[in-house]
Amino acid sequence: MEKLELLIAETAIADAVNRLAHEIDRDYQGRSPLILGVLKGSFIFLADLVRAMQTSIQNIEFVRLSSYGSSTVSSGQAKIVMNVAEAAIENQDVILVEDIIDTGITTSTLLQELQRFRPASLKLCALLDKPDRRRQPVTIDYLGFTIPDRFIVGCGIDFDQRYRQLPAIYALEALEE
Ligand code: IMP
Ligand code: MG
Repeated sequence: MEKLELLIAETAIADAVNRLAHEIDRDYQGRSPLILGVLKGSFIFLADLVRAMQTSIQNIEFVRLSSYGSSTVSSGQAKIVMNVAEAAIENQDVILVEDIIDTGITTSTLLQELQRFRPASLKLCALLDKPDRRRQPVTIDYLGFTIPDRFIVGCGIDFDQRYRQLPAIYALEALEE
């Protein structure tokens, strides 16, 4: 059994999404970025973000990675299990959209991979940042919230594939039997 503790309410998430959309609109005037979501965790945040943006969008693509399996502790290794074609990224203004930056290993690996495809520019947008656990430095250009070192679920983010559909962000605590 697990217990859920509300950490970030739905309304606060909506406010943050609107703020990030405005920041992106301000920075991308006259450009049409490629929005690149990291599956599965970013799907709800990305859907909300693109609908709040005014900027015209060249394309929306997804990559899939895994670093966790069914544990709440990062294995420390990011595995790219799906790739976007190089041609889709070359010369594009790419905005990578992540759910949460934890150790930073997943995102820094992915950013390095993407740079090899020579995008015109590459920025990172993340809903959540857990800086206490960082092992690889990552610059987050557009950030929703900084959160404490707790295991969270909701708004696309899972524990063993569950809880993604929750509209708010919750901290998950394992209960003793
Ligand atoms: P990193 O490589 O340690 O930064 O891991 C990033 C990925 O791990 C995120 O995109 C999430 O999929 C997952 N992750 C990190 N922290 C949490 C959490 O608190 N709950 C659920 N998944 C998490
Ligand atoms: Mg993820």
